[in-house]
Amino acid sequence: MDESLLEKAFLTKDFEQLGKDVLAEISGHLERTTKGIQSKTLAWNPPENELDFWRGFLTDGNQADFFKEILNRTTHTHHPKYVGHQVGVTAPLTVLTGMLSNLLNNGMAVYEMGMSPNAIERIVIEKLGEKFGFGSNAGGFLTSGGTLANLTALLSARKAKVTHDVWNEGHTAPLGILVCEEAHYCVDRAAKIMGLGEQGIVKIPAKANFAMDTEQLEPLYKESLSKGIEIFAIVGSAPSTATGAYDDLKTIAQFAKKYGLWFHVDGAHGGAAIYSKKYGYLLDGAQEADSIVIDGHKMMLMPTITTALLFRDRKHAEHTFSQKADYLLDDTTEDEWYNSGRRTFECTKTMMCLHWFALLKFYGDQLFDQYVTRQYDLAQDFAGMIEDHPNFELATEPMSNILCFRYINPELKNEELNDSNARIRQVLLEDGEYYLVQTKLRGKLYLRTTLMNPFTTAEHLNQLLEKIVKTASNILG
Ligand SMILES: Cc1ncc(COP(=O)(O)O)c(C=O)c1O
Repeated sequence: MDESLLEKAFLTKDFEQLGKDVLAEISGHLERTTKGIQSKTLAWNPPENELDFWRGFLTDGNQADFFKEILNRTTHTHHPKYVGHQVGVTAPLTVLTGMLSNLLNNGMAVYEMGMSPNAIERIVIEKLGEKFGFGSNAGGFLTSGGTLANLTALLSARKAKVTHDVWNEGHTAPLGILVCEEAHYCVDRAAKIMGLGEQGIVKIPAKANFAMDTEQLEPLYKESLSKGIEIFAIVGSAPSTATGAYDDLKTIAQFAKKYGLWFHVDGAHGGAAIYSKKYGYLLDGAQEADSIVIDGHKMMLMPTITTALLFRDRKHAEHTFSQKADYLLDDTTEDEWYNSGRRTFECTKTMMCLHWFALLKFYGDQLFDQYVTRQYDLAQDFAGMIEDHPNFELATEPMSNILCFRYINPELKNEELNDSNARIRQVLLEDGEYYLVQTKLRGKLYLRTTLMNPFTTAEHLNQLLEKIVKTASNILG
């Protein structure tokens, strides 16, 4: 390798200059997007064209344009007309903590490769445990995403509850979990990865409002037992993904207690409501959970990926993975909170705790209270507008900041309405002013919004409805 290139890659002066330029570019982007000065949330480009652009850029593009082009060619969650997926609108402070994490690259698996982040992560988890009213035995860690955290929690549940030693002996009897049919697909995937099979994922039907129909728990649980399936866990969604409906966690907690099941709460999206004085009640019952997942990169203004997995009893976090990696870890049974790799799926992970800790230090819990409360309030206002509008209907009353609705027209049958709404969404995507998504619920296609952006106002949403009406009339002629 050319040594001079290696030296060049580490030149502090070049880095400082480029860093100043990029930071100015990023700050400009923040100003243009958050204030809505920029007209679009995304400049749509079909996949093949995008591929061609970047192929060309690698060979002929101007290096100085790299950062600008990335900004031009991505979806701007900071724009108030971004009302699409459940992707966090990052607080600018976390751009800086991300930089620090990338620079230091302390992977945290063992204490000496991450002294500060291991200590900081413990504090973040302690604070979260306090919020949920967990006692002094609580513990947990940060990990790479809600999907991985749900899988880890179910592995912990299996280790804690199943009567035989699956880790070492494999499955010697059929096992299962209970979960609402509306839960995020990653729960299903986790169960499949764990070898539970289709019969081991006992789907509890949802009620009209898309939350778990808890009346069906008892009969379906007993039916599984009668088939010889050992049910070891029940998962509550807080909320589920498509419609944002919170399951009745109190009733689920009672059920789990009655049958000695592990109670896991998937709060990847809305576990952050625990910070909201107004909406914290949605998590009533989560205090009884054995484990809870919360994504910082959804409703807590943090970057991808920052997920907390909290345990009521930290010994379960310690025992999930008992494989040995002697070159890294001693085989002691002590509570070695400072060796992160003992408890996590990852060996190496990013210093994601820096984002969480910095937001707590600079702004405190109140930031999350203000943010969650504002976004959930806004969804209520938006629902009111939709209900008052003759051209729209709601899928269900929103319980969070996720809201599904669709354009309606009395002259159209359901299939035609589905087609019209899909075409409306495609026109809006290619237009790029607003970004929203779509989902199919019980045979009906809905436009789906998640009100993630703290700068979105009722006026933006009113204009969105008007734009949809105009788009529909263009499509339908
Ligand atoms: C309820 C719920 N659980 C889990 C996940 C998966 O989380 P992640 O995207 O962090 O893997 C999502 C993602 O949308 C979700 O909504």
